[in-house]
Amino acid sequence: MQFSVYNPVELIFGNGSLSKLKDVVRRFGDKAIIIIGKESAKKYGYLENVERLLKEGGVKEIKIFSGVMPNPEDWLVNKISDEVVREKADFIVGLGGGSVLDTAKAVSIVSANEGSAWDYVNYPEGPKALPYWNRPLICIPTTSGTGSEVNRYAVISNPKRKEKLVISHSLIYPRVSVVDPLLTLSMPPRLTALTAMDAFFHALESFTNKVYHPVGDMYAMKTISIIKEYLPKVYEDTSYKEGREKLSLASTLGGYAIDFKRVGLIHGIEHPLSAHYPSVSHPEGLCALSLYVTKFNLKGNREKYERVSEILGYGVKAEGVLKAIENMLDAFDLPKTLSELGVKKEDVYRIAEDTYYLSRRLFPINPVEPSFDDIVDICERAFEGRL
Ligand SMILES: [Fe+2]
Repeated sequence: MQFSVYNPVELIFGNGSLSKLKDVVRRFGDKAIIIIGKESAKKYGYLENVERLLKEGGVKEIKIFSGVMPNPEDWLVNKISDEVVREKADFIVGLGGGSVLDTAKAVSIVSANEGSAWDYVNYPEGPKALPYWNRPLICIPTTSGTGSEVNRYAVISNPKRKEKLVISHSLIYPRVSVVDPLLTLSMPPRLTALTAMDAFFHALESFTNKVYHPVGDMYAMKTISIIKEYLPKVYEDTSYKEGREKLSLASTLGGYAIDFKRVGLIHGIEHPLSAHYPSVSHPEGLCALSLYVTKFNLKGNREKYERVSEILGYGVKAEGVLKAIENMLDAFDLPKTLSELGVKKEDVYRIAEDTYYLSRRLFPINPVEPSFDDIVDICERAFEGRL
């Protein structure tokens, strides 16, 4: 019955809260570097607003690094870190979706320590190097799913090794996160559903795993109930501001839930999957794996799955969760198999092998501890769509 809570992020949340950015920036110094993705931060004026607020807050010099892609790669983190050091930036601002935030978080470590991004990722035997310090970081999400703004994880891919691993360290938290749900209004329905499903799987996996953490459980349950109620409404009307605020809240609460409790085998297989198929986005991979992993997991924690089923309106029975997920995937037209994602049959075994090696630190906390054969079976079922 032991648990602990450590989360040092100053969270500023709510519709319109971006304006408060100017009140918090001055403490971090004169020179900022803003990291953004390819398009939306510029297209929708978010970057312009953030630059203006930084200046109003007293920041004297601002540099922009644009072009972070989904499934961010280690070389890019190294490249941005070099620039941050060269420019002598006092602090970093990550403005974008999960990939941008994770990149900015990794840069806050790599630009303040020796070594390169891949030295800090969590192999089963531990990372090659540990950070001693970090560069101050402010995160401003423009999607609602990853919860990256409040947790200790940054997911990075290594295209040469075809591996996707997590930097997990208490120094990687942003100093401040400003979650203004109005910045998510530009997301189209499909991206809204995909990102919300990432938050849903954070909640489902953390709630049902074997980590004892009653605070994390509360956050996870709230995440699930918000998504059940508000995702269909926002999917229908993407301009629904109160609904956007609720989905951002679900994302952030889900981010806390995995910070306290970690994830499970859906995420454990998804990372090797999108390491081999970088064109597959994280939530697409999660959706395609979710039914088969959940079916495997049910027997390990029926009580928790019964609770999830009840929250989702499918009665107090563990199997209700399967029906609920299937109906959500159908309702939002999301992938239900690996073959739909373009995964080739000959790669399925390799994904299972990588999962067995690279994700094995998750196995003891997964509702059911999987064997290698179990993982192969789950991957084959997910490929064929055989529940
Ligand atoms: Fe995730």
